[in-house]
Amino acid sequence: MTVLTQLPETAMPLPANIQGFTLTPSSQSPRLLQLTISREVVEAFLSAVSEWPVQALEYKSMLRFRVASILDDLCGNTLQPVLVNTLVDRATGGFQVVPEGLDDVERADDMVKLATAVAHLMGRSNFDAMSGQYYARFVVKNVDDSDSYLRQPHRVMELHNDGTFVEQDTDYVLMMKIDEQNMEGGNSLLLHLDDWKDLERFYTHPLAHRPMRWTAPPSKNVARDIFHPVFDVDREGRPVMSYIDQFVQPRDFEEGNWLTDLSESLENSSGTLSVPNPVGSFLLINNHFWLHGRDRFTSHPDLRRELMRQRGYFTHARTLRDPRQV
Ligand SMILES: [Fe+2]
Repeated sequence: MTVLTQLPETAMPLPANIQGFTLTPSSQSPRLLQLTISREVVEAFLSAVSEWPVQALEYKSMLRFRVASILDDLCGNTLQPVLVNTLVDRATGGFQVVPEGLDDVERADDMVKLATAVAHLMGRSNFDAMSGQYYARFVVKNVDDSDSYLRQPHRVMELHNDGTFVEQDTDYVLMMKIDEQNMEGGNSLLLHLDDWKDLERFYTHPLAHRPMRWTAPPSKNVARDIFHPVFDVDREGRPVMSYIDQFVQPRDFEEGNWLTDLSESLENSSGTLSVPNPVGSFLLINNHFWLHGRDRFTSHPDLRRELMRQRGYFTHARTLRDPRQV
């Protein structure tokens, strides 16, 4: 297990005036910022990168950074510092990004390109074992036979962090809505750790820092179990989490019951935000101090939702490894 901490002194100077996008608190919480990219920038970006299909971004990692650079140039180089600083800022650490005019599934490839550019202004997206690419697109339908709750619509997907059962650093999570038909409900659920009233109670418990075993179901294509505790600390000594209820394997009665108490507390937290994420928009959060999940949907025979995710590591905030746990 590697322990990640962000170094705030690596922050970039914030621009005096931003260009090409707006930044406002979301209607759900001042911690979650709404970043709206103007229609002009969206279209100019897609035109500028039109020579590269998504497949080019899949095959050549370097081009992901080039499309990022093009997007930042169109924003007068003011987008990158906002992304870099906000994602490591404990007070916020999360965005809903709304690209104006990019709201139809027919433009799914354009959505992938834009999200890729945003992600690679502050990070690098990891290989996703489920898709074999640096991103994964997947569909939720009315009937599902998968082996986790990821694609099962009629129940809540509980609050969790990503990357709990892989050895990759997972500093950020990007979740984009590509399509949505006949959907009622199914909002994204987000909880900032500092808005969870039981944080202190669980974080100070002796089991909070005991390494536990994490294992993935077959669909994740992850062969090996890994071990790490539920809680850790960042460089400032603040709690961070790496937790998911479905994949932790308690070794005994004590761990199992403590984890169940923790799960119940999270699911009943009054600090949880319920965020509708329109087609073409995406959530981008710091995976260490934001938990995410999904509310239940109402059943419909023609229900369809398509999502795209990227998870990765920050490239502008250095990571530290705790030598005791490597
Ligand atoms: Fe997740």
